[in-house]
Order: sequence, then C-alpha cells, then structure tokens
Amino acid sequence: SDRYVVIGNPVAHSKSPFIHAAFAAQCQQDIVYERLQAPVDGFERAVSDLIAKGASGANVTVPFKQEAWRLSTRLSERAKAAEAVNTLSFQRGEIIGDNTDGVGLTRDIADNLAVPVQGRRVLLLGAGGAVRGVLLPLLALAPAQLVIANRTVEKAHVLAQQFSSFGDVHAAAYAELAGETFDMVINGTSASLSDDLPPLPQGVFAVGSLAYDMMYGKALTPFLQFAQAQGAAQLADGLGMLVEQAAEAFQIWRGVRPDTAPVLQTLREQLA
Ligand code: ATR
Repeated sequence: SDRYVVIGNPVAHSKSPFIHAAFAAQCQQDIVYERLQAPVDGFERAVSDLIAKGASGANVTVPFKQEAWRLSTRLSERAKAAEAVNTLSFQRGEIIGDNTDGVGLTRDIADNLAVPVQGRRVLLLGAGGAVRGVLLPLLALAPAQLVIANRTVEKAHVLAQQFSSFGDVHAAAYAELAGETFDMVINGTSASLSDDLPPLPQGVFAVGSLAYDMMYGKALTPFLQFAQAQGAAQLADGLGMLVEQAAEAFQIWRGVRPDTAPVLQTLREQLA
C-alpha cells in the first residue's frame, strides 16, 4: 500500500489521518496515512527521509507550508500564487507542490453551502498566509469585488497589488469599511485562535449575507458571534474547508474524488 503523511509541528491534533482513512475506505484505496511531527528546523530532512523510504506524498501544515513551497521542484499555478504548499507528491525524483486550501474554501462555499460567489461583493479579513492561499481560487469565481481588510493595511495593499490581474481586488483598513456592505465576509485572520475579533465596524453584513470563519471549534468563534448579532443570514466555520482541501489532495494522489458529505458529518458530530 502507498504511504502518505501529514507533516507539521504540532501535528498531534491533525484530523487529516481520520479524513484520509475515511476517504480511502469509501473509495477502496489501499493506502497508509500517518502523522509526522518534524522539528521546526527539520522539515527538509523529514521530506528527504520520506522520499528515501518510498512515501508517495504528504500534506503539509503549520509551520512548514512556505518551506514546502520553496522545496518543491514543480509547482501548480495556485501553489505559485499562494507562495505556500499543503500537498506534496513524490514522483520519480520530483517534489511536486500544490495548494488545495483555496479550492477547499471555494468548494465549501459554492457546493456545500450552495452560496454563489460570482457577481457578489466579498470581504476577506486578514493578509497573512491563510488569505494569500485562497485569493486565486476566490477570484477565479469572479466576485463583483473583493476587498482585503487588514490591521496592518500595508500587507493588504501588497496582496491586492499582487493579485490585481486576476480580478477587482482592493485593500482597506478596517475603519474604512464603515458604510459599506458585503454579501460574504470571510475571516482569514488568526484572531479566533486567541478568542479575539477583528475590529470590524457595525453594518458590513448585507441582507442575506454569509459569514465564514476559516477557523472552527466547538463553539461559535467571536467573529461568527459578531456576525450573528449583526444579522448575517448564514454562518459557517472552516470544518467544511478542512474536509474539501483534503478531498482535493486525495484526488491529486489517487485520481478519485471522494464524497465529502459523510466525512464532514462525522467530524461535525465528533466536535459536538
Ligand atoms: P496565517 O498564516 O494564519 O494567515 P499570519 O500570516 O501570521 O497567519 O497572519 C495572521 C493574520 O491575522 C494577519 O492578517 C493578522 O493581522 P496583521 O497583519 O495586522 O498582524 C491577523 N490577525 C491576527 N490577530 C488579529 C486580531 N486580533 N485582530 C485582527 N487581525 C488579526
């Protein structure tokens, strides 16, 4: 059976082994998928060891996604744009890097939540790795406008500039959002990790809008609580994105697309 791992630090709580085992059972694929914690300064060594031992691929998580991007000998367009890699395939001496995070987000929004992006006004919060990773797939869905808001507004300007050829993308400081409304507000900041809320002004959620947090947890994140209080019509956390990015990686490796719905449902029940 072919061997895969998720490499990270820490990696003990990664749900990827569970998700890929479920996909493999469903698609009758004979694979082994394990966790691998690499030392923070030992990513390259860990990858060489994996290749030497005949592994077929790896998912990459915090803090190694950018290092995986640098180490890749071939990159997909979306991985190039993301400047980060979450899916590696080892093939005949090549290290092929892809990034499935963005398509994980857009599949969750468009397919699972059945919310259209085309022609809508989208607000993306944050300008770190998580946001950079989803910009290309989001812009590919042709929103009417995409605004990137960040505390450090200069980082949002850099991103908007870099992605300007892919659509109508602008940067803003949080305070500048006052008086504007959006059909979709996506939290790509790490604020939820510290139980914090990005400094959004009141009134940015349009009638019927979707609030999406890329993070997930047992309880509603502060951002989703705020969105609910502000009248957002639909709330979603990042659990669907997690399962969809895994499904895309599974398809890259195995050539088959698993049905994500039952796996997402099981994870949701486990979280409760
Ligand atoms: P990641 O890879 O998860 O995106 P990152 O690159 O460190 O992590 O970026 C974290 C993002 O969350 C940044 O956009 C950061 O804003 P700044 O660039 O201004 O630092 C944002 N962020 C983190 N905590 C936040 C908070 N409490 N409120 C608003 N934004 C926050």
